[in-house]
Amino acid sequence: MKQIITAGIAALSLAACSSGSEDTEPDTTKGLAVQEWGMVDGKQVHLYTLTNAKGNTVTITNYGGIVTSWMAPDKAGNKANIVVGFDSLAPYLQKHPYFGALIGRYANRIGDARFILDGVTYQLAANNGKNHLHGGNKGYDKVVWEVKPVVDSVPALTLTYHSPDGEEGYPGNLHIEVIYTFTDEDELLIEYSASTDKATPVNLTNHAYFNLSGDMGTTILGHTLQVKADAYTPVDTTLITTGERRSVEGSPFDFRTPHTIGERIADVPGGYDHNFVLAREGAELEKVAVLSDSVSGRKLEVYTTEPGMQFYSGNFLDGTIRVNGGNLLQKHGALCMETQHFPDSPNKPDFPSVVLKPGEKYHTITKYKATL
Ligand code: GLA
Repeated sequence: MKQIITAGIAALSLAACSSGSEDTEPDTTKGLAVQEWGMVDGKQVHLYTLTNAKGNTVTITNYGGIVTSWMAPDKAGNKANIVVGFDSLAPYLQKHPYFGALIGRYANRIGDARFILDGVTYQLAANNGKNHLHGGNKGYDKVVWEVKPVVDSVPALTLTYHSPDGEEGYPGNLHIEVIYTFTDEDELLIEYSASTDKATPVNLTNHAYFNLSGDMGTTILGHTLQVKADAYTPVDTTLITTGERRSVEGSPFDFRTPHTIGERIADVPGGYDHNFVLAREGAELEKVAVLSDSVSGRKLEVYTTEPGMQFYSGNFLDGTIRVNGGNLLQKHGALCMETQHFPDSPNKPDFPSVVLKPGEKYHTITKYKATL
């Protein structure tokens, strides 16, 4: 039996639940609904539906902290899902390219799958050729997170995970908390916090794939992107940053004014899969990118406190994975804007530090806002 917990505007509280009903559909009033979604590692996995005052929804599972859907209206008011996902848990347990997942302990790549910290060499899993990608063989995208629903005026979910010392080769017990909030302005706010008992590199992100058309059978090549970045970090043939910060001037990486993604992608071998050095004003949450689809009229604004953003144009998607909506997701069928510190920072002393030390608090915020 599916358990449904609902909460209204006045009392958004899991205590105020109507559990035990035979309902299988989430409540459509503003709030938070939960349903059982299966078992992983002997732990119960749930699917949470966050509904805002406009009746728009985001669904999130505590398996991998994955955002599985986001219903957003187009210019005619028609709602469609703008993130790639699956309708059930089973396909998430198969190999997939991190659809919608929380990524850690280190998002993106670490060259030669190793780093030296305080004189000690740490060997990590080489799960991307000779390099380490997205936390290793079993990153935070593949673990069951603990959940604390948040009692507030907007639907929110707190996910926590304790990453033990030595997990995937990383030093230190890392305690991570991620708060997802879905506001009445159609903003998905993701707040990441962490603390450790040994110095360790930390770089957390979310790997949502967006296609604003809502039709996952199309490509994002006609989408327009603007990124507030004067430079990007070039990579070698294995996608490891060289350490350089190169000006975007006169290159296909210049998105300081809006360009369609398809316009210059042929000039980027393999397609876009690069970290942009964000031209930040300060340390607060700032708008750094805008994605738009002129056909549906949908836009997505990206705000972050992070110094970088990986723009990945879905180059490795190959038409073999059937996603929500029933389509096979083709090459460039969706794109990612992963806010982050720069790839391979543990081996690049000139990049902003990613080392978290005992007594320090890791804290970053990223916000995606669906608008028209
Ligand atoms: C990240 C990487 C890409 C690719 C995807 C997952 O975005 O930068 O190279 O590995 O994850 O397929």
